[in-house]
Amino acid sequence: MAKGQRDEAHHMHKSNSSMIRLTAQLMQQNRPQLTVNIALVFIFLVDFWLTGFNLVHRLLIKLKIIKPLPENCVPPAFSPTSPPPFAQWPLTHIFCRLIHLYNLLTNYKEDQRLHHELYCRKPKNDWIRDWATWEGIGHKGEWTEPYPAKDEDSRCPCPGLNVLATHGLIHQSGRKVAASKMVVAISRAFNIAPTMALQLYSPLFSTFSDRGHVFDLESIGIANIIEHDASLLRPDYFLADWKQDRTAMTRPHQDMIDRWFPAHLKHGKLKDDMTDRDFAEAVCVRRAESRKRNRQYSSNVVQSLIGSGSCCLMLNVFGGKVLDLREMAGSVERDLPGVRTTASGEDYGYERMPARTIKVKEGEQAPEGCPMGKTYKQKWQPATGKWMFGMTIVQALWTTFNIEMRARA
Ligand code: HEM
Repeated sequence: MAKGQRDEAHHMHKSNSSMIRLTAQLMQQNRPQLTVNIALVFIFLVDFWLTGFNLVHRLLIKLKIIKPLPENCVPPAFSPTSPPPFAQWPLTHIFCRLIHLYNLLTNYKEDQRLHHELYCRKPKNDWIRDWATWEGIGHKGEWTEPYPAKDEDSRCPCPGLNVLATHGLIHQSGRKVAASKMVVAISRAFNIAPTMALQLYSPLFSTFSDRGHVFDLESIGIANIIEHDASLLRPDYFLADWKQDRTAMTRPHQDMIDRWFPAHLKHGKLKDDMTDRDFAEAVCVRRAESRKRNRQYSSNVVQSLIGSGSCCLMLNVFGGKVLDLREMAGSVERDLPGVRTTASGEDYGYERMPARTIKVKEGEQAPEGCPMGKTYKQKWQPATGKWMFGMTIVQALWTTFNIEMRARA
């Protein structure tokens, strides 16, 4: 990064660089509805408990008291009547059993629920029931064939959620998405703790309450709720070229992907994995640029933390691996089917789970039975697999604050 740019960004945030000041600003600005606040307190309490389990679990593995989990952390298909194995998903197993009992007692009918979804009136208790059902997409790294988004489909500024539609974890059209299903899908597919998955949706809770939490993906991009200026993969709302390109905020931008996640450095060397330092620098440059070029640039501590929070997801879920991040962000690669072009002639792809053909090189670890020199298909699993109960809010906050403090330092 150019030294001048870094200095300028550094100067801008100098007055905000204490952790205590940052927390105080956050508490002042983030005042959602009372009910959402109460729910968040409850979610945080459960989250501390899950974080404790995650830490103890890792400690027990280190002390060789228990064995580490098998590599695949995305569960196989399950339902209230056939829960996942207790040994690997104890909480989900117990939960499925309880829901089975609840369904029996309340005479619950699945077809009634379809009717509700069709008319955007989801019964409140589906928020509880959805956690007990999973189609099994992604188990052992088997994601469905990616579906290239078409012009009539709905997509949002969040690549993580668009990936869900590409692989049919929510409806491929991205329309009439039930929030409860979407939240469950991010939790299972990316091994994110239920508390964290709910917390990610919480800023939109009051916005979608009156529509029964059923919406088209594009509605998630309402400016300045979660969508914010100076993000790495999307232009600022005010600078987006709406006349030429109505999808400017919801489609991948190849130039931005190549800028932050170049496959190769100069002289053809492969780029190393991204670290928190790299993300902090990138965020810092984007903020400086937006301040300079965007007359309507808006930024506050919540938006800054949401920006660093997205980087935390890229770091913790995708392990900061550049080639994986490129696919997640929707980069146009050779032979990618379904590439579209904007009115100004720019090609763009669609967000998908990383899946590449990898050649085994000397000294590299390969799946069993794949000798050196041969190729195999990558079976992608989230890097959060090391945490038994998924990435919790506390763990995510730790990485987010780390990135934010570095960006401001
Ligand atoms: C309910 C859950 C979620 C909601 C409502 C949500 C919403 C959003 C929104 C509105 C943006 C646009 C920010 C902007 O560029 O202005 C965004 C960005 C992003 N989200 Fe999500 N998201 C969710 C979950 C996830 C998950 C689970 C992942 C990853 C696995 C993810 C990864 C990202 C990434 C990588 C960005 C781009 C950041 C950037 O361009 O700097 N999100 N999200």
